[in-house]
Amino acid sequence: MNTSNLLQTVNSITTQGKGILAADESAPTIKKRFQAINLESTEENRRAYREMLFTTPGLNEYISGIILFEETLYQTTQGKKPFPKLLAELGIVPGVKVDKGFTPLANFSDDNITQGLDGLGERLSEYKKQGARFAKWRAVFKITAHNPNRIAIKSNAEVLARYAAICQSIDIVPIVEPEVLMDGDHSIERCRDVSLVVFHQVFHALFKHKIIFECMILKPSMVIAGTNAQLKATVNEVALATLNTLYETVPAAVPTINFLSGGQSSELATTHLNAINSLATKKPWNLSFSYGRALQEHALKTWNGKDENIPLAQKKLLKRAKLNSLACLGKYKPEMEKE
Ligand code: 13P
Repeated sequence: MNTSNLLQTVNSITTQGKGILAADESAPTIKKRFQAINLESTEENRRAYREMLFTTPGLNEYISGIILFEETLYQTTQGKKPFPKLLAELGIVPGVKVDKGFTPLANFSDDNITQGLDGLGERLSEYKKQGARFAKWRAVFKITAHNPNRIAIKSNAEVLARYAAICQSIDIVPIVEPEVLMDGDHSIERCRDVSLVVFHQVFHALFKHKIIFECMILKPSMVIAGTNAQLKATVNEVALATLNTLYETVPAAVPTINFLSGGQSSELATTHLNAINSLATKKPWNLSFSYGRALQEHALKTWNGKDENIPLAQKKLLKRAKLNSLACLGKYKPEMEKE
């Protein structure tokens, strides 16, 4: 392990006012996204879509890292430039999603476990040759009256820590992503209770596995009421609950926390990030974004699979990237949406 290589990667990503674009949708997920615009998920369509995103003029002003799906790591622009090379030339750090998705945790109904540890070291070495400098692994926790079970939390935390240890051992910065899902009708208080235990167990496992906290990125969900909750939390309640939960569970040695958007609308994800950064309390970490849907949704709809829509779609992506950049600085205002 070479700590200075890891720190260099973390520092490049943790530029104030910049965040991560999550463009690592797996084959089934991108198929679902393309279905919404009536587009077949062929390898060429996936390549063309990612080229549209990555060649957005000015993207590197607001985006410091992009998470790629494995397939994309080996794809090229129409002009035959490998995507990781294109991004590196733009000063955007290329990374890769390395988990293999989740599967039901046997004996624990409604709980899941993320897969992909077998052969991970070898895969990572190959991805590194291809230009990846960081990786991502997502664990999901569904809230019901009885879930997540403690065993599911502990098992996923353990797997996240083993993944992170393998990454750091070969100079790849791990993004550790524990996602408490928004699906359901639970209250913000219930989300806070679950998130507290999940984040605590994740950091306990990371500590036991000797992870260097300075050389990792945390990608958590925000503390928020369920999508079908009768009582929605206010923006300020979400910001406070999220920050307080992080204070109680995340060491100050972690340099940056980059939230996922998790199904929030693009505007709400920006509003929440801005509110978190606007709270007049001390924040030991950089607080930024690693959004998938909340950055891409407008751009994808505008693109609609057609070349002639590329310039407008890129403008939509750039706008969301810029507004989220402002939210990192607590300088976003809702009226900017109309500009
Ligand atoms: P969303 O922001 O759409 O939740 O995606 C982020 C991500 O990388 C999920 O793993």
